[in-house]
Amino acid sequence: MTAEKKLSFAPKFKPLFKAIRYKVFHGGRGGAKSWGIARALVIMAASKRLRILCTREVQNSIKDSVHKLLKDQIEMLGLNPWFRITNETISSACGSEFLFKGLRFDPLGIKSTEGVDICWVEEAQSVSADSWDILIPTIRKEGSEIWVSFNPGEEKDPTYQRFVLNPPDDSITVEVNYYDNPYLPDTLRKEMEYCKRVDYEAYEHIWLGKPKSISEAVIFKQRYKVEAFPDDLWQQADRLFFGADFGFANDPSTLIRMFMLGTRLYIEYEAYGVGVELDEMAQFYDSIPEVRRWPIKADNARPETISHIGRQGFSIDAAAKWKGSVEDGITYLKGFEEIIIHERCKHTADEFRLYSYKVDKKTNEILPVIVDAHNHCIDAIRYGLDGYITSSDSLGTWAQLGRG
Ligand SMILES: Nc1ncnc2c1ncn2[C@@H]1O[C@H](COP(=O)(O)OP(=O)(O)OP(=O)(O)O)[C@@H](O)[C@H]1O
Ligand SMILES: [Mg+2]
Repeated sequence: MTAEKKLSFAPKFKPLFKAIRYKVFHGGRGGAKSWGIARALVIMAASKRLRILCTREVQNSIKDSVHKLLKDQIEMLGLNPWFRITNETISSACGSEFLFKGLRFDPLGIKSTEGVDICWVEEAQSVSADSWDILIPTIRKEGSEIWVSFNPGEEKDPTYQRFVLNPPDDSITVEVNYYDNPYLPDTLRKEMEYCKRVDYEAYEHIWLGKPKSISEAVIFKQRYKVEAFPDDLWQQADRLFFGADFGFANDPSTLIRMFMLGTRLYIEYEAYGVGVELDEMAQFYDSIPEVRRWPIKADNARPETISHIGRQGFSIDAAAKWKGSVEDGITYLKGFEEIIIHERCKHTADEFRLYSYKVDKKTNEILPVIVDAHNHCIDAIRYGLDGYITSSDSLGTWAQLGRG
């Protein structure tokens, strides 16, 4: 093994070597989270005196801990001469020490752990709010860090809420999945491919680390799938459709390219950019093939933007909007037998998974109100289908479908 190979890291783990209080790695199975973190810790502990607390929600015995993982990494990296490993402990020649403790059944043990430099919380999806409340103020040494790794369970879980949805100051949250792992073993890849083929929702959860979408309120639940399709498939369609939404302040600008085949809608390309300036729009649009040859239908709220883009050689104009046009657009989209989102359109896929009706927090009833979020690609899709989406009181939606 060359020295270079010994220290191989998936690039997503580089932030481990920066001084940040919270380093959070979440994602699906096989993203190299455990290996990446264990390696970084071993390398650091070999070169500098560190007190490292390795914890998880439940640790009934040392077997449940990352003790073996660290030991294996020490061996693989050829660092044995610098470490002393017993059945229960690991320490290094320069005075580093690894401690292994469970959170739930040993809160006193956690509270009394002094002088921790780095705390690694592995499998953190199971960590309760109470455990976080005990752990965090215990890791109080100046410059101390908390490293968190997990496969998300549900969106409401305390760890997901705390570190992904509302990350604290001085934190970095990194999503890592199997495709970020250059060393993904073949067996795992095959498992992933099988799951993706037979149960896409499970694949999103297990392999892409998306929190389980359990909500009936998701508007396009089970109405779409995400998969690659051939780049020349669109040539069987009558035409391409382009739709554009414009960003305001923090919102992204989007451009979507799509086509219809029979009763299926294919979302083929997306451009998605936050803070795209007016003079960058042409370049932004040119990231999608054929965009200058086909009409683009855009958000009618920004006529000056439309006219600016039009002068750059695009055939762009405003899509019609009317009272209820969002709802009519959704009805129209639900009329497709299937919506197929190309897997390169990651933001569109996220939006289809998240775009929801409002839910009454007290009664859990799904309300006839669409939440104004996760809709930048979806709005672009609606605009792009201008003239096809019709007002609910006019007839003939299907009659207007390309090959309906
Ligand atoms: N630096 C590396 N060098 C060689 N192989 C690696 C490396 N990092 C990861 N791997 C391989 O990738 C596999 C998955 O990595 P790891 O177990 O760290 O993923 P994970 O994100 O913790 O997965 P899970 O979510 O299932 O716990 C490992 O079993 C190992 O075979
Ligand atoms: Mg792991």
